[in-house]
Amino acid sequence: MTALLEVEGLVKHFVAARSVFGRPTAYVKAVDGVSFTVEAGKTLALVGESGCGKSTVSRLVLRLIEPDAGIVRFEGRDLGTLGANRLRAFRREAQIIFQDPYASLNPRMTVSQILTEPLALHDLVPAARRRERVEELLRLVGLEPRFARRYPHEFSGGQRQRIAIARALAVEPKLIICDEPVSALDVSIRSQILNLLHDLQNRLGLAYIFVSHDLAVVKHIADRVAVMNLGGIVEIGDAEALFAEPRHPYSRALLSAIPVPKPEAKRSRIVLEGEMPSALNPPSGCRFHTRCPYVIARCRTEIPLLLADGRRHATACHRIAELPAPGAIVPADGGFSPVLEQLVAAFSDGTEAAGRAGVDMSDTRPPAVRS
Ligand SMILES: Nc1ncnc2c1ncn2[C@@H]1O[C@H](COP(=O)(O)OP(=O)(O)O)[C@@H](O)[C@H]1O
Ligand code: SF4
Ligand SMILES: [Mg+2]
Repeated sequence: MTALLEVEGLVKHFVAARSVFGRPTAYVKAVDGVSFTVEAGKTLALVGESGCGKSTVSRLVLRLIEPDAGIVRFEGRDLGTLGANRLRAFRREAQIIFQDPYASLNPRMTVSQILTEPLALHDLVPAARRRERVEELLRLVGLEPRFARRYPHEFSGGQRQRIAIARALAVEPKLIICDEPVSALDVSIRSQILNLLHDLQNRLGLAYIFVSHDLAVVKHIADRVAVMNLGGIVEIGDAEALFAEPRHPYSRALLSAIPVPKPEAKRSRIVLEGEMPSALNPPSGCRFHTRCPYVIARCRTEIPLLLADGRRHATACHRIAELPAPGAIVPADGGFSPVLEQLVAAFSDGTEAAGRAGVDMSDTRPPAVRS
């Protein structure tokens, strides 16, 4: 069976600086050879620190931006070869919701207008039935139909995210990319939205790419997890296996930063040494080598391949066979380096930490999808 979505060797480099003659002099290697698949009705979580390329992957998958290289196939069709009409049809099949629903909902439109727009655009429901469909969509996301006449500012953050979800559902998509959908919400509201997404998946058979800088958030929703570092996937596997036994040193460090609810099960935090490198000038060889506690000479020159075992669990590390078992990692003498502190903050913070990659992130918000 072919997967719903297949991504192969995606590359996107942004020009970061130009000479006075306009010639590019520096590139941000935002996405540098990313491959994965998403099965129908399943969730792939894409996790990694702010700036590692998650949102760029999302925009590439939806063809909101063109890749420099690589292929995206949806239901077996290469999106790069689709004409305008078929690309429009694809825009119905795949939707996106963002971290800040307020920014993606037009403040001058009522909820009814917001939800009717995609129905009219794709000519999905006859005009006479649209009101009914709007009410149906609101109920589907746990909002009362009478809210249809209100404006976005009249709602709480969690309710606005429900409206954004309803708008994505209006076109009956098969895939929704959720880009940090709960990062801006109060902790108390987060699980409600996560439960809603999970419930909708079961009812409607949706597939998700769930993007998050917070591993704890994806734990209960992911079927597969891909861990990204500086534009590349360092480990990908079934969620259960990856959470139980993370293999890549980077995944292990990220997992060790998640607070454990039971004190007796307390994990030792792994201290990462060295500076947080930038996608503007990524390290040679293994991009994690400046922070890896297990680094050897080979890591500085040779890029490790993402190699899978028999259970579709793939890891990109030269020393994978020699690393200690995940349960037996010796903590680096109890310290708490500034680098790890940043890491922990990035993975437990309410909102996404911005701009740590040394490049202005203020204009990186993807355009709202007008599908
Ligand atoms: N339009 C753009 N122009 C230049 N650099 C960009 C642009 N969009 C993203 N970047 C850079 O690409 C890298 C990856 O960004 P992004 O995909 O937003 O990461 P994430 O979503 O994981 O935080 C960052 O270094 C970011 O500054
Ligand atoms: S390849 Fe080397 S530097 Fe990279 S994660 Fe493995 S041991 Fe660490
Ligand atoms: Mg992002």
